[in-house]
Amino acid sequence: MNILAIGDVVARPGRKALKAHLSQLQAQHEVDFTVVNVENAANGSGLTRGVYKELAALPIDVMTSGNHIFSKREVFDFIDDEPTLLRPHNYPAGTAGTGIVTVTAANGAQVTVINLMGQAFMHPSLDCPFASMSEILRSTSLQEGLILLDFHTETTSEKSAMGWHVDGQISAQWGTHTHVQTADERVLPDGTAFITDLGMTGAYNSVIGTDKDIIVKGYVTKVRGRFDPANGPAAVCGALIDVDEASGKARSIRRIRVESE
Ligand SMILES: [Fe+2]
Ligand SMILES: [Fe+2]
Repeated sequence: MNILAIGDVVARPGRKALKAHLSQLQAQHEVDFTVVNVENAANGSGLTRGVYKELAALPIDVMTSGNHIFSKREVFDFIDDEPTLLRPHNYPAGTAGTGIVTVTAANGAQVTVINLMGQAFMHPSLDCPFASMSEILRSTSLQEGLILLDFHTETTSEKSAMGWHVDGQISAQWGTHTHVQTADERVLPDGTAFITDLGMTGAYNSVIGTDKDIIVKGYVTKVRGRFDPANGPAAVCGALIDVDEASGKARSIRRIRVESE
C-alpha cells in the first residue's frame, strides 16, 4: 500500500500549497494513507483551533507535530479530543494529547503512527526517544499492522541512529523539524523505509519558512528579530512509501517535491 508523508506545513503559504496539491498527489500515486506534520501550521508555530479545523477538512489520516505543538496555548482546548493529532510521545506522563495512534486505513489495513522528538539540540529535552521506541515495540509489532514513525529532531545523526534502531521492526521512519529535504531516502537492509528529513511545506524564498530578511538581519546584527513567516511561492515536500501489507516491510521510498504558485 502507498503511504504519503508530508513535511512540516508552515503558515498560510504551506497550507495553501497543501490544499492545492494534496488530492492530486493522492490520486496520482494511488495513496492509501496520508500523514502530515502540522507543528508550524498557524503563523509558523503551533496550531489554533481554526487552523486545525482547516487541516482536518483535508484528506489527512494522521497529523504529527513536534517541539512547536504547544506554542499556541489554544491547542490545550482541543488536543485531548483529537486522537489523530499527535504530539511527541516522549513528553512526560500527564502531558496533554497523545503520541501514538492506530487507525484503520481506507483499504482496511491497520496503521500505527508514532511521533517522537529527539534530544540533541532540542528544547525541551524529552524522555529518551530510543527507550520510548523500544518500549512501544514491546507491545506493537508488524504482525498486527504497519508501523510508521515521524522522528522530529535537529541532528542528522540522531535521525540516522533511530533508523538503525528500528530497522526491520517498523515499516517506515521519516524525519521532520529541520525543514530541508534530504536526498538519502532508502529502504534499510531489514525493510524499514528511511529518509532523514521530509523537508517543509511552505514558502521557499525564505529561511526554513521564516521571512529571509528578518533572519539575515539577525545574523548580520546579532540581534534576533520577531520570527514572521515568509510569503510567496511554496512547495509541498514529503515522501511516498510503498509497503507490503502482508509483512509490513517497505518495498520503496521516494522523495516528493511539488512547487505551487
Ligand atoms: Fe517544523
Ligand atoms: Fe520542530
